[in-house]
Amino acid sequence: MSWDQVWIDINIATMDASISEAYGAITDGALAVKDGKITWLGKRSELPSFDALATPVYHGKGGWITPGLIDAHTHLVFAGNRANEFELRLQGASYEEIARAGGGIVSTVKACREADEAELFDLARHRLNALAKEGVTTVEIKSGYGLDLETELKLLRVARELGAHHHVDVATTFLGAHAIPPEFKALGDCAADAYVDLVVNEMLPAVAAEQLADAADVFCENIAFNLEQTERVLTAAQTLGMDIKLHAEQLSNLGGSELAARLGAKSVDHIEYLDEAGVKAIAQSGTCAVLLPGAFYFLRETKLPPIDLLRQYGVPMVLASDFNPGSSPLCSTLLMLNMGCTLFRLTPEEALKGVTCNAAKALGREHSVGIIREGMQADFCLWNITTPAELAYSYGVNPLVDVVKAGKVIH
Ligand code: NIG
Ligand code: FE
Repeated sequence: MSWDQVWIDINIATMDASISEAYGAITDGALAVKDGKITWLGKRSELPSFDALATPVYHGKGGWITPGLIDAHTHLVFAGNRANEFELRLQGASYEEIARAGGGIVSTVKACREADEAELFDLARHRLNALAKEGVTTVEIKSGYGLDLETELKLLRVARELGAHHHVDVATTFLGAHAIPPEFKALGDCAADAYVDLVVNEMLPAVAAEQLADAADVFCENIAFNLEQTERVLTAAQTLGMDIKLHAEQLSNLGGSELAARLGAKSVDHIEYLDEAGVKAIAQSGTCAVLLPGAFYFLRETKLPPIDLLRQYGVPMVLASDFNPGSSPLCSTLLMLNMGCTLFRLTPEEALKGVTCNAAKALGREHSVGIIREGMQADFCLWNITTPAELAYSYGVNPLVDVVKAGKVIH
């Protein structure tokens, strides 16, 4: 056999459902990589013979290999921070009150409009490095802090640049319909519709022309965009060939998830207020449920997403950071795994699926990443742990030893 590298003295959490063990586990395993792909995996005892002098052999010292982690929902390109609003909330103001008083998303918009691309790139790279240090090899990044054509394009270009300059793959999402821009507020009741006109008629075509977004998203909520406005944006995005997803049912139940399901969305995200009809709808459409424990924690929410119903209907559950300056300043995937278990009562295996195989589905990348299987991209992590549950169990320690991205060992 001629391979580029071989890993031995490892256990593998393949996350492959066709391997019946928990975590799709192969203990005492081995794995081989060729041309950036996984070309062989199985029991060490069954490893075919290969030229051990010509092939780099990595010894895992009995640790565990998992797929490279995937953070399927972030807003990590932004300027400024909102620590002042954190203080206000601790004095009793609510997230909605702050948003309605002109703070919230709009204050980050101001900072992003003022920042240039180099500054945004630098801030975002620093955050991406933090995620990569905990094993993230694929990340989704949304725009949505520009709310005008120029700034939305700027944020998406920075996200694309990050992907081009970092070993972490970046999936980009256009979230122009994130909030109503301050300059539209004077239009009163017509403001949201008028802004959606701009999003649909100018922003989406410009984003598509530069191929800046893989997907489009909307904040469907009573403090943002209603169902009709949401549908206009999502269908326009689909016409331009983008995948769609939705911030839905975070603060109330507007029925956004049912709409997203009807349109064939890849995911609905947040969904604390999702009811059984909504769960049924997303189960039927194969839409993933993206759970964001960081926002739940930081906003001190008490309404839990309907985890039991999601399980009952077999909806793929994803865990993501929602990393953003307002509702989830959480830049730690390992801490998030723990939060998914302690706050949402996921099992450690469900939590790990949420940042591997299911996260890949939410990004439409399930045929290349998220599972360790022959033919998949060689994206994986080696961890100094004795059982995969350890990844969700402890926090503040980082057991990551090595990362392989598309067959390249990253030091
Ligand atoms: O995903 N829900 C809407 N958007 C973000 C919050 C953004 C912000 O507050 O800056 C979220 O939680
Ligand atoms: Fe979000």
